[in-house]
Amino acid sequence: MLVTIIDVGYALWFIFPAYCANAVPVIFGGGRPVDFGKIFFDGKPILGSHKTLRGFFSGLLVGTLVGFLQTLIFQHVLFQYDTQFRYNVLLGFMISLGALVGDLVESFIKRRLDILPGRSLPIGDQLDFVAGAFLFSLPVSPPSLLMILIILVITPFIHLLTNLLAGLLGIKGKAEASNETHC
Ligand code: CTP
Ligand code: MG
Repeated sequence: MLVTIIDVGYALWFIFPAYCANAVPVIFGGGRPVDFGKIFFDGKPILGSHKTLRGFFSGLLVGTLVGFLQTLIFQHVLFQYDTQFRYNVLLGFMISLGALVGDLVESFIKRRLDILPGRSLPIGDQLDFVAGAFLFSLPVSPPSLLMILIILVITPFIHLLTNLLAGLLGIKGKAEASNETHC
């Protein structure tokens, strides 16, 4: 099977709101945690202090706005090509929501495994949000198998790159410090 640059472009186009929804909380997150600091039956935090309401809703807002812009571009430019998929505002919203919920589910699993907030769970950290985005996109416009494969292969590299960049700019460290002071 030959994968062309166009296939990669379509796959990245599809998942782009999820990347934005996942990255924005690093900048705007902080404050009240999504689980309100509650403890689960096992005596450990439900989600932990790094999952905040501000992070969740800022990610959802920006991801949905990005999806809206992509819809405009789609309707005015890309519609003339055979793109194998359709893009609309609801899809951008669902992909963003799925990305954020996928990230919460991963934190829930990490806490059950005794992994402290901010400590990594390899593969889970890289793919939690894309898995959520795929699931939530299903009722609106499911991605093709090829798109899913391309996204699963490319995302860990993009994740690594953005983490390095955030580390260099001191963004991630700042967000974590803010979590510690607020919660
Ligand atoms: N963040 C947030 N609210 C969210 C998601 C993320 O405020 N709903 C912010 C937090 O500052 C978090 C950062 O984005 O530290 C990076 O998110 P992520 O890497 O998913 O979280 P971790 O710090 O690894 O925490 P956890 O162990 O719970 O996954
Ligand atoms: Mg995560």
